[in-house]
Amino acid sequence: MHIAHSIADLRSALAGRGRPAFVPTMGNLHDGHIALVRQAKPLGDVMVSSIFVNRLQFLPHEDFDSYPRTWEADCAKLEAAGCDVLFAPREHDLYPEPQTFKVHPDPLLADILEGHFRPGFFVGVSTVVMKLFACVFAGGAGTAVFGRKDYQQLMVIRQMARQFALPIDIVAGDTRRAEDGLALSSRNGYLSPTERAEAVQLSRALQALASAAVAVGADLPTLEAQAAAALRARGWQPDYLTVRQRANLLAPEGTPQAGTLVALGAARLGSTRLIDNLEF
Ligand code: PAF
Repeated sequence: MHIAHSIADLRSALAGRGRPAFVPTMGNLHDGHIALVRQAKPLGDVMVSSIFVNRLQFLPHEDFDSYPRTWEADCAKLEAAGCDVLFAPREHDLYPEPQTFKVHPDPLLADILEGHFRPGFFVGVSTVVMKLFACVFAGGAGTAVFGRKDYQQLMVIRQMARQFALPIDIVAGDTRRAEDGLALSSRNGYLSPTERAEAVQLSRALQALASAAVAVGADLPTLEAQAAAALRARGWQPDYLTVRQRANLLAPEGTPQAGTLVALGAARLGSTRLIDNLEF
């Protein structure tokens, strides 16, 4: 596996190697990331991953400084999964001058849910992903794989690629879960043993919400409030538990139609904020 820190080194490592299949990450890799790498590998001629903890997508009070950085273990996992080129820019490689030129996604999609509770988050994500795409796909077209775990992020990136006519296929990877059903996430490592045992309740709450949402006469706002109250009673601080249309993440109109919906949730357990979602 070739490790490139600078954009110039990345581009020369990729020159003449065909279509990249790309998985961007912020490191601290778990089986969910590695499944994305394995999924991406046959989709291109050269498998590229990146590790970059992107300051632009963290609010001042969030965990940029303490975000787990596990370089040696990450490199070993990527190499074992068949990654050909790892792009690991230092901050000055990717942002040699203040990144004042930013990508602003559609507020109808990006200022709701995660974007409402983490203002500017999707500007930071879209900007870095556009820049990573410019570095990795400088030679032409290719494929990038993003996890469904970050459902809204996947939708924002898809819309960005479509509206800017980027020659990049955006492919979704399924969420990997621990045995009890907890979605794998780098932030699970922040949980104490007691919190870890409790953490699966977020996905259980989404399952219960999804089942109730398609019952005859379901009143979604009431069900969503009940789902949040149930988690709150267990010691969580929910930001949202909600049922949305998969197509645009807006509230369903009329009777919710199974097969077109997604239940999304974000909630804090202690100081750890977890997100999850369930299509139904
Ligand atoms: O999902 C992530 O890990 C990050 O948001 C991404 C896509 C690597 C951009 O920093």
